[in-house]
Amino acid sequence: MRLLVTGGCGFIGSNFIRHLLTTDSALSITNLDKLTYAGNPENLADLAASQSSRYEFVHGDIVDRSLVESVITPGRFDAVIHFAAESHVDRSILDSGPFIQTNIVGTQVLLDASRKANIGRYVQVSTDEVYGSLGPTGLFTEETPLAPNSPYSASKAASDMLVRSYVHTFGFPAIITRCSNNYGPYQFPEKVLPLFVSNALADLPLPLYGAGLNVRDWIHVVDHCRGIEAAWRKGQPGEVYNFGGGCELTNVELTHRLLDAVGKPRSLIRFVTDRPGHDLRYAIDYSKAQRELGWSPQISFDAGLRDTIAWYQSHSDWVARIKSGAYRNYYAEQYGTRLASKPAAP
Ligand code: NAD
Ligand code: TYD
Repeated sequence: MRLLVTGGCGFIGSNFIRHLLTTDSALSITNLDKLTYAGNPENLADLAASQSSRYEFVHGDIVDRSLVESVITPGRFDAVIHFAAESHVDRSILDSGPFIQTNIVGTQVLLDASRKANIGRYVQVSTDEVYGSLGPTGLFTEETPLAPNSPYSASKAASDMLVRSYVHTFGFPAIITRCSNNYGPYQFPEKVLPLFVSNALADLPLPLYGAGLNVRDWIHVVDHCRGIEAAWRKGQPGEVYNFGGGCELTNVELTHRLLDAVGKPRSLIRFVTDRPGHDLRYAIDYSKAQRELGWSPQISFDAGLRDTIAWYQSHSDWVARIKSGAYRNYYAEQYGTRLASKPAAP
């Protein structure tokens, strides 16, 4: 069995490739990745060396039609699992351009090439953010209407709609997965959890948006990878499957838990200007995945957080290399004036 994975040098894609290569010896994987600021071949360097007969890397842009068509040739792959995306809400607010290109046009190119090559199964890795924001109660189901609020989620919703249309119009065998907020090893430290863990370990301030009362549903990345695998192996073409961790936390609760876990004081928190259009609450009903795929999350938040913190502690060089590069300019643009605001009460 041979898979094409796009975006495999990012956070979830690299965990997915690691998960599959270490649990299924019959699989071979080709990873197509542009290596944007978020793509880091170091995430898979050990496997690239130890599994060289089963792992192949192709450096390229999913927007590049001739390149994609030269990779996805008839008979070469049994399935395409599509992770590649611009993935950070705050960056989409600073500039939505790359999100439109990669998330929408890139998906269109991949769908066309996959269809042309008669790919037997295609999985679109999407997000719960396409559903918009919940009030204090309720859960997103697969029937919840799409109502994206950020340029990031709008571009993901647009790509989901394209996938839907290819299923409907061409009978293309695609499945869409929508998952809540992931955490775990290899997450780029622009997302809240690795940003706050790495800042706390370095005694730097933690910029909490608004009053810190927005709620996210946290899932360990390996549980998400198991869900995508189950959707690929057992899902029905044309169906959508939601995945979540069943772990709702306000951002301030999350921050307190991680500060306690690393033994750092709450005085590191800075309440900064809120994100524009900040979705209040995400929470997932994953009963369809339980029922139809036999999937449920297995890693408790306490155990997952402990392991993730330990991973960041033992990979301080990985974080330092990222934070010394172009990320510095983004951090200054995103937080420069905001971090001048008041510290939290201890
Ligand atoms: P990431 O930003 O860590 O990684 C994205 C990867 O895609 C990088 O390796 C990057 O180099 C690659 N890439 C970007 N543009 C490309 C292009 N034009 N051509 C080829 N490769 C390109 O993202 P992530 O957090 O691993 O998210 C992966 C997928 O999962 C995304 O589709 C995202 O929308 C979805 N998702 C993420 C979360 C989350 O909590 N992080 C939750 C649900 C769904
Ligand atoms: P993030 O990790 O960017 O994921 P998403 O926006 O896709 O949910 O943010 C998670 C939550 O943390 C979100 O409510 C915004 C908040 N947040 C902060 O309070 N401060 C920060 O510096 C960042 C990056 C996020």
